[in-house]
Amino acid sequence: MIKTLAIGNYRSLLNLVIPFGSLNVITGENASGKSNLYKALRLLSETAQGGVINSLAREGGLKSTFWAGPENITKRMRQGEVKVQGGPKKKAVRLRLGFSGDEFGYSISLGLPTPGNLGPTAFALDPEIKQECIWAGNVYRPSSSLVDRSGPAIKVRTNRSWEVITQHASSFESIFSQAVDPVKAPEIVTMKEEIKSWRFYDHFRSDSEAPARLPQLGTRTPVLHHDGRDLAAALQTIMEIGDVAALENAIADGFPGASLSIPVQEDGRFNVNLHQNGLLRPLSGAELSDGTLRYLLWVAALLTPRPPSLMVLNEPETSLHPDLLPALARLIIQAAKNTQVWVISHATRLIAALEDSNECNSLQLEKSLGQTQVVDQGLLDQPSWHWPDKSK
Ligand SMILES: Nc1ncnc2c1ncn2[C@@H]1O[C@H](COP(=O)(O)OP(=O)(O)OP(=O)(O)O)[C@@H](O)[C@H]1O
Ligand SMILES: [Mg+2]
Repeated sequence: MIKTLAIGNYRSLLNLVIPFGSLNVITGENASGKSNLYKALRLLSETAQGGVINSLAREGGLKSTFWAGPENITKRMRQGEVKVQGGPKKKAVRLRLGFSGDEFGYSISLGLPTPGNLGPTAFALDPEIKQECIWAGNVYRPSSSLVDRSGPAIKVRTNRSWEVITQHASSFESIFSQAVDPVKAPEIVTMKEEIKSWRFYDHFRSDSEAPARLPQLGTRTPVLHHDGRDLAAALQTIMEIGDVAALENAIADGFPGASLSIPVQEDGRFNVNLHQNGLLRPLSGAELSDGTLRYLLWVAALLTPRPPSLMVLNEPETSLHPDLLPALARLIIQAAKNTQVWVISHATRLIAALEDSNECNSLQLEKSLGQTQVVDQGLLDQPSWHWPDKSK
């Protein structure tokens, strides 16, 4: 379970360390940094899939993701006594991402290549992974470090000594792609599997061409695709190997008197059928309203028979009528019993219903001098965190 998330120098997140519970609700005004936080989590998940450098390129390159303000915001700048201005850079510019739980922590630090160090290459603008570390326990200490990567050198701790796994790690691949040895470094394998299981759901499409509306060839689907294309198969899978009672409750909770069936067409395609009071025939995927379709998508995502360690939901309220939001909140609270859930939302009714749960960790973001901060988070409220590469 993740207990702490830390981000440094990523867009408006100059230095953010936040506590993580089983159910986390992130709110804040427009431009307060919610999507930046979401993107930072996604980048972290990309490290385990070998895609962190590509994802950064898609965001416009590492340079554009660096915090655009000064290295330090002084007290006098904060109080408006002097203008916000940058001085000469004292530290190397690094984008840092990390998280920790009770058992392990992980961090990665990325930077631009050192000029002059590169041989002939057309990829001189590619960011480099400068440092990575896995440690035991919630907070990094040099003595708790288990895997340490410094540039091209990766070493792992075995008992009391360090063993160098490679001196030639490629600068664009993380330890999760290069040092996956279950005997020498079981922590890397465990952590890779955990991060790979994280799921991100962000704005399902519901237009007339949306993949979720079309009949689909179905195979057993314990995990809904992030665009919802396998909705019918995912719902059928819940009916066969998942929590059928929870599925029926969720449908009845959202649409009183309604029930769901998944007919298989002659050509083997699956369709979603919703039987509603007052109608002589059920309505199929193509006929459902945007909100109804999106609610069914959330049902399929949240009642997954194979819960991941973390599920991130970006503005799940989109297209849903406020009356449906308490039912959605109940589903999310239920899911948070088996998986950590992270919800970014603007919808007051959804937020209020989620905050009713004792487990809810509610974080409101605000921006001060361009920097995202957690409202009312004093220095003492911030979880402890140390970056392994702070000296460089
Ligand atoms: N490199 C950067 N350095 C500093 N700030 C940045 C950088 N890139 C983007 N920002 C700032 O981040 C803010 C955008 O944050 P974000 O998109 O996370 O907002 P949000 O909370 O999701 O808002 P909304 O509710 O409108 O979606 C903008 O104010 C933008 O100026
Ligand atoms: Mg946003």
